[in-house]
Amino acid sequence: MSAFSFPILATGSALPKKAWSNAALIAEKGLDSSDEWIVSRTGIKQRYIVGEGESTFTLARDAVRQALSRAGVDAKDVGVLVVATCTPDLTFPSVGALVHGDLGLPPECAVLDVNAACSGFIHALAVARGLLAGSHAHYALVVGAETFSNVVDWSDRGTCVLFGDGAGAVVIRKERGSEERGTRGVLGVSLGAEGACVEMLKSSGGVAQGRVAGVVQMNGREVFKHAVRQMGEVPPLLAECKVRLADVDWVVPHQANLRILEAAALSLGVQMEKVVVTVDKHANTSAASIPLALDTAVQDGRIKRGDLVLLQAFGAGFAWSTGLLRW
Ligand code: ACO
Repeated sequence: MSAFSFPILATGSALPKKAWSNAALIAEKGLDSSDEWIVSRTGIKQRYIVGEGESTFTLARDAVRQALSRAGVDAKDVGVLVVATCTPDLTFPSVGALVHGDLGLPPECAVLDVNAACSGFIHALAVARGLLAGSHAHYALVVGAETFSNVVDWSDRGTCVLFGDGAGAVVIRKERGSEERGTRGVLGVSLGAEGACVEMLKSSGGVAQGRVAGVVQMNGREVFKHAVRQMGEVPPLLAECKVRLADVDWVVPHQANLRILEAAALSLGVQMEKVVVTVDKHANTSAASIPLALDTAVQDGRIKRGDLVLLQAFGAGFAWSTGLLRW
């Protein structure tokens, strides 16, 4: 139990200017597919895709700007910046470093990217919380930002229709007082992985192949089964935080696809009315999907002060993570 609590002060998000409906994407890329197939298998109706002048960095920066402005926190007061991404602009330096330079964050701010694929945002939240607890910093920025449109194989209709681009950010403050039930903020996080399953969802290239990025390769059926199993079990984190599933007001899962969310909710015994769904509008934005969904549900008034929010993620490496928040 930490001597601190970590309330989330505000959320922010950023999407590329252009949204692509299923029909528009099919026509543009010459895909042998249909709106009916994509909607019925995935629930995805559209996705946003970066254009000229837009990148993972610009989306991360814009989401951070919005979150800082809503929180009323000055960039010069930020002591930790963690960006979750597996589609950085450059192999190095990190997207965090690009944001740091552009927004003029202070030199004593700890800055890094974490790559836990679609699970990345909760991993970044865990890292930021640890860095806040172990330093003199008072404010942390946690960001999920991705441009999967840059790493999908546009000739593979089984994967390219699933993904979209975007970014979401939260501002966290460290406060004195322990993370007990009832206290606002990040009540707990739990992380894990099944590294034996890396072949089922991966990029085809990288530095070791002499290329800086490959394209998405996926065994869709295996990913589906593992994702539902992982996100459909009551997370031990709830018992650790002395919270019953029935006390959870909102589940904000990684937005992989609607059928995974529905099957996981059914297995958990949670009504879909309690599950925040944005995959229809954003598609799968990997590490950005949870902060984008959080921002959506906070801005439209669903998630209110005092609500208990369960975050759940699953992705490549079969990295998984759960987080519990008191809003
Ligand atoms: N349009 C039309 N037909 C398609 C498309 C498409 N976009 N994609 C595949 N098909 C075809 C296949 O070629 C196949 O045709 P065939 O029978 O003639 O060979 C047929 O549809 C069925 O293909 P399957 O791959 O068996 O389709 P399935 O019902 O398994 O659905 C899907 C595929 C949607 C990918 C499913 O496996 C799934 O949801 N998997 C989960 C993976 C996922 O969501 N990954 C996201 C990233 S990972 C993460 O975020 C955790």
